[in-house]
Amino acid sequence: MRLIIIGTGGMAKNQVDHFSQIDGVEIVGAVDTDVNRLAAFADKFNIEKRFLSLDEAIAWGDFDAATNVTPDRAHHPTTLPLLVAGKHVLCEKPLAENYEKALEMTEAAERAGVINMVNLTYRNVAPLQRAREMVIAGEIGTVKHVEASYLQSWLVSKAWGDWRSESTWLWRLSTGHGSNGVLGDIGIHILDFAAYGAATDIDHVFARLKTFNKAPGGQIGEYMLDANDSFTMSVDFANGALGVVHASRWATGHLNELKLRIYGERGGLEITHRPGESELRGCLGEDAESAIWTTIEVPPVPTNYQRFAEAVATGVPQDPNFRHAANLQKVLDLAMVTERERRELKV
Ligand SMILES: NC(=O)c1ccc[n+]([C@@H]2O[C@H](COP(=O)([O-])OP(=O)(O)OC[C@H]3O[C@@H](n4cnc5c(N)ncnc54)[C@H](O)[C@@H]3O)[C@@H](O)[C@H]2O)c1
Repeated sequence: MRLIIIGTGGMAKNQVDHFSQIDGVEIVGAVDTDVNRLAAFADKFNIEKRFLSLDEAIAWGDFDAATNVTPDRAHHPTTLPLLVAGKHVLCEKPLAENYEKALEMTEAAERAGVINMVNLTYRNVAPLQRAREMVIAGEIGTVKHVEASYLQSWLVSKAWGDWRSESTWLWRLSTGHGSNGVLGDIGIHILDFAAYGAATDIDHVFARLKTFNKAPGGQIGEYMLDANDSFTMSVDFANGALGVVHASRWATGHLNELKLRIYGERGGLEITHRPGESELRGCLGEDAESAIWTTIEVPPVPTNYQRFAEAVATGVPQDPNFRHAANLQKVLDLAMVTERERRELKV
């Protein structure tokens, strides 16, 4: 697969680290509207072709697939021309800033008949995949209750950089720069994590969102800091289970931690994922009587990057695709309406 990378910021580096280890994948070009970032990135990873606009890259055309690692609001305008050009696309999450645009991208990808995937990274967490298999196999019985959280602390710490001065964080705090805050940024991850692990879809949602004042006048330079920082959500699942889902950028002591607890009528499962460590624990069978939890060993699973490369090579589509991400975006859009209207809505 001849691959180009669009957007050469923080996440692009992570993606190149993964793609460059996959046999048969060649990173042949990079695109960024920021000339300095593009040059530094292409030099660092030895990428020959450099483009300051996607149009130039498409006019050149000597590639099979693109990975779109631009900021959220650029996903829609940059993905559509790639699809028209017949290129396979892995797009970063969230697919778009709203359901309408996400659906337009989905329909364009389906019309083009190309491989379309969204980088819901936590599908790479092996315990999540194993938990889903166990739920589907009936090992914990019918799922009744789900607890899911995604905790970050970059508004409290400088472990990942200073949000007060770096654009990579500032655009995430501003609706005018295309961000739906913590809900749009990592809410999509934790909703996918919860619904995929519990093997059922979310069908009702009621959310509370909060934006705390972070700077004088709520503004830093061109960035109005008006996007939400924390959310809590209660959900119903299609199988009848109830769930609570929450996320925050203010969770001191948690750099990046996802937790999912799934309780069925015969057992419980708990998945914890932090940088560099993932764990699956279960309370199953007789252990329910004494509330003993045991670690369940799980083998690694292929990453989204490996599965995208395989899908392009074989022509056989893989999950998660654009339609799935668009459906999740619908839940996020409704969550914002529920905050305004203070009432539960059906998805
Ligand atoms: N899957 C994950 O776990 C994960 C993790 C981090 C970020 N992300 C996603 O990756 C995307 C990028 O995030 P980031 O942290 O790397 O952002 P960033 O701000 O660090 O980098 C984005 C880059 O895109 C460039 N850019 C902007 N508009 C462009 C355009 N029209 N054409 C080409 N380049 C353009 C910018 O100049 C910048 O270099 C976001 O959508 C984010 O949500 C996903």
